[in-house]
Amino acid sequence: MEIDQILTHKAGMVEAYLLKYFNSFNLEERYPRNLIEASKYSLFSNGKRFRPVLALLVNDLFDSDPELVMPFAAAVELIHTYSLIHDDLPAMDDDDLRRGLPTCHVKYGESTAILAGDALLTEVMSLISLLDINADALKKVLRKLAVCSGFFGMVAGQTADLMAEKKSPDAEDLDFIHRHKTGALIEASVVIPGIINSAADLQIDALSLYGRNLGLAFQIEDDILDVEGDEQILGKPIGSDEGLEKTTYVSLYGIKKAKKMAAKIIEEAKDSLDIFPKNTLQLKMLADFCVNRQK
Ligand code: IPE
Ligand code: IPE
Ligand code: MG
Ligand code: MG
Ligand code: MG
Repeated sequence: MEIDQILTHKAGMVEAYLLKYFNSFNLEERYPRNLIEASKYSLFSNGKRFRPVLALLVNDLFDSDPELVMPFAAAVELIHTYSLIHDDLPAMDDDDLRRGLPTCHVKYGESTAILAGDALLTEVMSLISLLDINADALKKVLRKLAVCSGFFGMVAGQTADLMAEKKSPDAEDLDFIHRHKTGALIEASVVIPGIINSAADLQIDALSLYGRNLGLAFQIEDDILDVEGDEQILGKPIGSDEGLEKTTYVSLYGIKKAKKMAAKIIEEAKDSLDIFPKNTLQLKMLADFCVNRQK
């Protein structure tokens, strides 16, 4: 199978689950419908579903039924979507285009966009409660997801990213930003399916290494696409980083070196999967996709 087919197939499964989940909401008459509309507008808008696809592919390493990880796969896409809605706000990157559409705040107003993000994040608790795993595993899942999303993960990275605007962060500062704002949630998408599948410590370590490298390379490629991507295909504005005077892998190292670094990191990511006896091919293809993608 080609990587495009794998992505389409797995993303389709996630899409179906998310649709069913959101369509089961029973809204009373006075319910403020713009909250749900704004949330669905951003959630069902042609995202790649990269993180849930990762979760499903890691689940395949253990030959498990996709249903086992699906509530988590959906949850991580909700966290990701909320992070995008907030990332685009005027107080943050102030972008008008996302996934090929006007951003959530442009379409629904800032306050509704903020609240849609809040509600998407909060709904994650309901989704995680649907996981059919033992109490000990559930605790580990919750802890990892919180660490990777909040004070010690994505939100910390987003804060550091904003604080570094118009400044000259060095290589280590930039590494911190990328590993947190983007890398952490991608790591969670890989490691948590391992926890759900009662992976051995050695397997968790290997998944963690794969996820961390993948996450960093994913954001380096995002920096590259912000310079040489095609807005039509990418679905978000080109040159956003330069406009905001952000330091990126491209501005710090130049495009050629940034590409080389990302490629090397991806090779390391793929190597760490070699401890698994089977079903690693698609995860390796997804790793290559990470640095060859156009969107
Ligand atoms: C974009 O993520 C933001 C980053 C964290 C780099 P994606 O490239 O996964 O965006 P979608 O979900 O496909 O729109
Ligand atoms: C975003 O980084 C990371 C998030 C947590 C959303 P960027 O600001 O570079 O992402 P894009 O380019 O707007 O998607
Ligand atoms: Mg940003
Ligand atoms: Mg942005
Ligand atoms: Mg970007």
